[in-house]
Amino acid sequence: MEGLAKISPEVFTRRARLKRENLGLSTVGGQASLKTLLDEPDFALASFLLSVLGEGSFLSLLWFLRDNAPDPVTRQVATLTAQDEARHVAFGLAHLERHCQIDPMMHGRLRGAIEQRHDALSNTAGLNALVFDALITLAAGSLEPTALQRGFDAVSQLQADMDRGRRIRLRKLGFDETEAEQLSALHTRNFM
Ligand SMILES: [Fe+2]
Repeated sequence: MEGLAKISPEVFTRRARLKRENLGLSTVGGQASLKTLLDEPDFALASFLLSVLGEGSFLSLLWFLRDNAPDPVTRQVATLTAQDEARHVAFGLAHLERHCQIDPMMHGRLRGAIEQRHDALSNTAGLNALVFDALITLAAGSLEPTALQRGFDAVSQLQADMDRGRRIRLRKLGFDETEAEQLSALHTRNFM
């Protein structure tokens, strides 16, 4: 194994504080979104929301960070985190695929879990504007208008990639194309 093959959680704190003294704050909406995952008592439904939809969307985000990283260390952190995240998504998918095969009621329950979470979060603001701007600036690489336009396009593409990934995973679980499209659209706007 290479020297950097294992990643310590400390690396995220150090990266977050690279250019500032204190960590940023998470929003009320972000916290509410995570809380809905903890509040889900059924393990299969919780792993569907977290691993298949949330972590699946995060995979696209980590690849985006890898491809737009401003330095080699950030790129390496994103690459290793994406590898780890891919395992979580694969595990969640395998677990749910089996559930769907043996339980004819499973699709209805999964659909209900997404709809319930969507309703629970309908009053929250969605993606923090600061996060959105940070992703644009990262992909732009500079504050020149043409670069910012490129950054904006890259973040729009990221959101399209996340949606596409979710639809592919939903199809793998046996939802038809229309259902997959509808259910992917109900996923939280803050990616989690
Ligand atoms: Fe994960």
